[in-house]
Amino acid sequence: MVKVAPSVLSADFAELKKDLDSIKNCGADWIHYDVMDGHFVPNISFGYSILNDISQVTDLYLDVHLMIENPMKYVDEFIKAHASSITAHIEAFSNEQDIRAFIQHVHHHGVNVGLSIKPATPVDTLIPYLDDLDLVLVMSVEPGFGGQKFQEQAISKIEQLDQLRQERSYLIEVDGGINATTGMLCRQAGADVLVAGSYVFQAENRKEAIESLK
Ligand code: DX5
Ligand code: ZN
Repeated sequence: MVKVAPSVLSADFAELKKDLDSIKNCGADWIHYDVMDGHFVPNISFGYSILNDISQVTDLYLDVHLMIENPMKYVDEFIKAHASSITAHIEAFSNEQDIRAFIQHVHHHGVNVGLSIKPATPVDTLIPYLDDLDLVLVMSVEPGFGGQKFQEQAISKIEQLDQLRQERSYLIEVDGGINATTGMLCRQAGADVLVAGSYVFQAENRKEAIESLK
């Protein structure tokens, strides 16, 4: 069954514990944690100290999505803050050696590792790393903001990653503009994890919203 990862970017930070409990009780599998630095994306969100606080009050899997330049500079802080997985953007690295170093470093600390691609980045760029990844994150919107419209080209990327998977074991996660309709398309294409921000947090009935994605 597909996993649902509500994005806390859409939570109410003055009521964060309440929102975390609510999504857990409504059937969330993971917490998706969007880190933005105002450079890699034109928005700023939150960093590792809030992740550490969250880790003290929930037992849900903490799925960290780094939308930052120079991921290696901050990765240790997210490891210390109890990330369950750390996903960086392939576009944030300048060479293959740095990507390999990032993957190895995160694995060395016993944390799952992922790479993400923006809408304009082809799946082919990920091929050299697929054997070593726990997770591949397909962006179905331009990273930076919640509440955007799903971009259909993500579907063929998910299908391509599903075909490339064969004997590999990475999970395919999709992020941006997910609702019951687009979520179904992603599931059919082979996605394992659906990130949903506004669709879950703005729903009148969060349990129904999460169930509609599964
Ligand atoms: C966008 C973030 C997403 C965002 C998704 O840059 O990576 O995780 O929170 O929000 P929705 O589900 O509202 O598109
Ligand atoms: Zn995200």
